Amino acid sequence: MNDKAPGTPRHVAIIMDGNGRWARERGLPRIKGHEEGANSVRAVVRASKELGISYLTLYAFSVENWVRPKAEIEGLMDLLVRYLRGNEKELHEQKIRLRAMGRLEDLREDVRNELARVSDATAAYESGTLVFALSYGGRTEIANAAKRIARQAAAGTLDPESVDEKTVAANLYLPDVPDPDLLIRTSGEMRVSNFMLWQISYAELYVSPVMWPDFREENLKQAVAEYKRRRRRFGDIA
Ligand code: FPP
Repeated sequence: MNDKAPGTPRHVAIIMDGNGRWARERGLPRIKGHEEGANSVRAVVRASKELGISYLTLYAFSVENWVRPKAEIEGLMDLLVRYLRGNEKELHEQKIRLRAMGRLEDLREDVRNELARVSDATAAYESGTLVFALSYGGRTEIANAAKRIARQAAAGTLDPESVDEKTVAANLYLPDVPDPDLLIRTSGEMRVSNFMLWQISYAELYVSPVMWPDFREENLKQAVAEYKRRRRRFGDIA
């Protein structure tokens, strides 16, 4: 018998939701929810390292988020820059590599520069990887992969008949990052919101009722404990 009880997830991906509601419930401006959310990011990065999670991907800004009020977008971009500057030291101490995926060319120049700088400075670390999904959309990522594949076929470097799942996976933003084992969404919403659509095919889903600014180490531990109780069948029988 093949025992499929999973151990610690290698890759945890999180849809960080509920910052706005957290702020509204307290009579605060939305940006205060994002600010407290950045503290949750810090706590969850630390906790992931302690739990032995190798890859942590955080949905920090979607392609759809650009329709939000300009002040909120600017506030989020400021927060990202502040996070990168303020947490670089800890990433070095914990030997965590930072990476980013999405339409990074859409981001403000200072955000792009800080991302590139901290990604380069931490590129050699192997004890953990933190991925920020920024101006990210799952359909955009798949369409982008299709375009790259079409270009290779048009250039004659790829036989269209050879295109399979591996070809698509190899043309996603970060092809060397394994698929998420566990997808967490906070604030109780039961949606995947265009997040890593290709990669979450077999991910275990965990929806927490907790708003992201309140989601801390204990909540992550609970999610991982629940994951360990699941049986992953990958299409096989129980
Ligand atoms: C969703 O809450 C959250 C976001 C759109 C942004 C996520 C950003 C952070 C957690 C803060 C900064 C991030 C980093 C990486 C430092 P929402 O605004 O959609 O909440 P609502 O659904 O309650 O309105």
